[in-house]
Amino acid sequence: MTTINVGIIGLGTVGSGTAKILLNNADLIQKRSGINIRLKKISDLDIERDRGFNIPAGVLTRDAYEIINDPEISVVVELIGGINPAKKFMIDALKNGKHVVTANKALLATHGTDIFQAAMDSKRIVGFEAAVAGGIPIIKVLKEGLAANHIQSIYGIINGTSNYILTKMTKEGAEFAKTLAEAQRLGYAEADPTFDIEGIDTAHKLTLLASLSYGIPLSFDSIYKEGITAITPEDIVYAAELGYKIKLLAIAKTAGAEIELRVHPTMIPDSFMISKVDDVLNAVYITGDAVGETMYYGRGAGDMPTGSAVVSDIIDIAKNPNAPLTQVIGAEREKFNIKDIKDIETMYYFRFTALDKPGVLSKISGVLGAHNISISAVIQKERRAGEAVPLVVLTHKAIESNVTGAIGEIDKMPIVAAKTKFIRVEGKE
Ligand code: HSE
Repeated sequence: MTTINVGIIGLGTVGSGTAKILLNNADLIQKRSGINIRLKKISDLDIERDRGFNIPAGVLTRDAYEIINDPEISVVVELIGGINPAKKFMIDALKNGKHVVTANKALLATHGTDIFQAAMDSKRIVGFEAAVAGGIPIIKVLKEGLAANHIQSIYGIINGTSNYILTKMTKEGAEFAKTLAEAQRLGYAEADPTFDIEGIDTAHKLTLLASLSYGIPLSFDSIYKEGITAITPEDIVYAAELGYKIKLLAIAKTAGAEIELRVHPTMIPDSFMISKVDDVLNAVYITGDAVGETMYYGRGAGDMPTGSAVVSDIIDIAKNPNAPLTQVIGAEREKFNIKDIKDIETMYYFRFTALDKPGVLSKISGVLGAHNISISAVIQKERRAGEAVPLVVLTHKAIESNVTGAIGEIDKMPIVAAKTKFIRVEGKE
């Protein structure tokens, strides 16, 4: 029986989940993989706090370098998050000939090129299954299960916090700020929720999925990012009336030599499976040229789901430490131009705040028509002559620069009382 020694840097939520799985499921892992994975050391700045499970004597240390420099340890698990010192720990571990496993999507999305290069130089593996969609084995799906496919599109709900907030707003008609405060009180949202609610965490994960799927460099800066802070209960109700849900989606899709990479609130038809993914759950819907449509669903965060993904990487490395050293991610294997958001073509939801007067609808539709935007549905319920009322319009496919041009013109009209709201719509026309 082969034994490999593992060290975990960071005993927070995911570190604790990983340690618990390695300690509690050691027999099962050994029977399945034929490898004895020994948790030799765990480092954390706080080694006093009771994490609610037994850690064998002599395992805990405050010094990450006791792991990084330990000649017996062959896999270093980085679970402290953030950029520094996580990046230095990972690069030093790789230089010392260790394999690295991490859940750190922010670091890989923004500094992954350096880290994967260090791995190539040292002929070591960087496992990052836990970095995207927590317990869902989506990295393995793209690297292995769908390896024979040209990936045509990926639609992901890959941030549990924003999905929880949007689901709550949908079910209870609550305002965004109130729902966020409640999510923070319940511990679902971080004290600083910026990355979650502004689409940044989703974009970090999309960066990794897109590089794996399309053979493009890590392109975090080129991803269009828009969060959920401007979504109102009113928009959610109008979307429902039109047969849609609003979700924060990560979208990657090819169109010839171009690729769209975008993160934004999106209206999705109620009939689509992904629109039914609620609360903190994640889902990734992938279409490949051979396999067709596939969908993967599960928990995207939490100690045990994310720990499950970390341990799967450790098992893979232990079983096959000399895996082929082709750079699976971060390298430019294919040439794709990333489409500017202004050039994308999709359907749109508009909510105009217009005076309820004769001729208003024709003035607005005239501007839309002049910008080549064709209307597919209109809702105007309230009738308050002379006052501003919401006028909701759904369009056929239109080009985004035409949409922003039309809205810019419409918002200058005296019949319009507030800035027009628009949400991109996916689905069939
Ligand atoms: N903040 C993330 C989420 C955690 O809400 O999904 C997992 O990456």
